Amino acid sequence: APIPPPDLNACRTATNINNGQPVPYSCCPPVNNRIVDFRLPARPTIRTRPAAHLVNAQYISRFNLAMQRMINLPASDPRSFMQQANVHCAYCNGAYTYPSATGSQRLEIQVHNCWLFFPFHRWYLYFFERILGSLINDPTFAMPYWNWDSPAGMYTPNMYLNQRQYPALFNTRRNQRNMTLPADLGYSGTNNNLNPTQTAANNCAIMHNEIIRNANTLQNFMGRIYRRGDAINPGAGTHEAGSHTAIHIWGGDPRQPSGEDLGNFYSAGRDPLFYAHHANVDRMWTLWRNRRGNQPRDFTDPDYLNAQFLFYDENRQLVRVRADSRVNVPWIQCPP
Ligand code: C2O
Repeated sequence: APIPPPDLNACRTATNINNGQPVPYSCCPPVNNRIVDFRLPARPTIRTRPAAHLVNAQYISRFNLAMQRMINLPASDPRSFMQQANVHCAYCNGAYTYPSATGSQRLEIQVHNCWLFFPFHRWYLYFFERILGSLINDPTFAMPYWNWDSPAGMYTPNMYLNQRQYPALFNTRRNQRNMTLPADLGYSGTNNNLNPTQTAANNCAIMHNEIIRNANTLQNFMGRIYRRGDAINPGAGTHEAGSHTAIHIWGGDPRQPSGEDLGNFYSAGRDPLFYAHHANVDRMWTLWRNRRGNQPRDFTDPDYLNAQFLFYDENRQLVRVRADSRVNVPWIQCPP
């Protein structure tokens, strides 16, 4: 059977996985028992996400405004920035559970290190993006992606580093040195002290390995099978385990106790940069699918397709979605 949607009423204290301590605040969303099933909009809006290093000042100002409005919403509003950040914490740090077959215990839901990684994050960004658009009355708004796979886009996009002009995109809890360097897709905690050209060459080789060379099967790229009753963390796909995680560690602040913000599941969503990072992760999924040729692109196992998640939409409506993200692919364009 598939992983069921979380029961918000049973949401519990999250755990900081890096140190095993309880997260010192609640990551649980407001409870709402009126849930609707996701439906394709009658006239879907095509949103084209731009590369963050290529957008103009007008775009950045509007994005900053949308983010500022999200930050300013009351903490109890499920659309508020802190609640949106906590979506990640709740799904990734043991706050959500479901009853075991005998009902004698509750089993944890974990969307990482398994085949749910890509669909979960796609849906998460999708609702985040819809909320941003509604806060600036623009139903076509598309969030930027951090194009770290391209030499021109490897540095942290400037808009996220300009506290004075774009305060809603700024965050102090980042690795300050790495913010001046090109992203290292092989980072695991120490700087390699290469020059930018060498880093770019390494990054391209890493991309090649995880999107092409080692990503020949669905499970190798997407992650291992994870059904109802299975132990969590059966295994991450190449990209999740590789440059996706490297960027998290690379961006986290070594001055913080536990890699906050980007370097820890519970806090990662509190950095606006997280969403640009994951927009590129989402794009990697599309790029990988696009070059599959005659090879299977999507799991057809019903336990994958029918795994369910809950998200609040821009109208504060709780929506139930399935991992079968093929439905939303046509309306999010990821440029090559
Ligand atoms: Cu849910 Cu980049 O992790």
